[in-house]
Amino acid sequence: MTEELNQLLAKVELFTELSPDELAAVASVANTRSVAKDTVIFHGGDAADAVYVIASGKVKVVTTSTDGKEFILTVLGAGQVFGEMALVEEAPRSASVVTLTAVELLAIKREDFHHLLNTSPGISRSLLAILSRRLRRANSKMESLAYMDVAGRLARYLLDLARDHGQKMGKGWIVVRRPTHSDIAHSIGTSRETVSRLINEFEEGFGLVNKGKFTYIRENLLE
Ligand code: CMP
Repeated sequence: MTEELNQLLAKVELFTELSPDELAAVASVANTRSVAKDTVIFHGGDAADAVYVIASGKVKVVTTSTDGKEFILTVLGAGQVFGEMALVEEAPRSASVVTLTAVELLAIKREDFHHLLNTSPGISRSLLAILSRRLRRANSKMESLAYMDVAGRLARYLLDLARDHGQKMGKGWIVVRRPTHSDIAHSIGTSRETVSRLINEFEEGFGLVNKGKFTYIRENLLE
């Protein structure tokens, strides 16, 4: 196993419980793949043949309504896994996955993934925790769509973004690069124009401020 792959696998949420030998078994069946920005990796409804780990870059998980409107279920980044649902359920892909940046992936074929699940119980435990976290997040999203106005949904979206992808700046602030206003709109069920207007209305006094492509958030808002 190369040192680079070793370091990468150790940071992957799915493999945190694995021993060095088990990590070596994963490394021996993982194939690297580079994908350009704005590429569809697969469509919802496709047959599934692999699970993917993101080594670097970001992807969006999307569904499209019958009239062509996109809804972004989530954005996933380095160390996160996607494509596990169809393999676990033996069902077609539940959503499409599209790259938001250039992305480096590790692909593990269906048979290899099932073998790893059977031989390394740590993977199954991590997978349950990942699926449970995603369900919790999906519940929270349903709740905000049902009960919050657009400003509330945008604030919650930015807080989740900072929690998942933000970097500490010191002095109690976290910074995170925002997706495009169009992608944010497709995540919270509103228009791009509304997102652009609201983004400028958040003020430093609330602990959440937007400057250029970045959002700055007071760490204590994430507690
Ligand atoms: P799969 O159904 O194989 O293909 C689409 C993938 O998107 C799915 O597996 C999950 O990995 C991921 N996915 C689907 N819905 C969500 C969600 N609500 N939150 C996070 N990831 C999701």
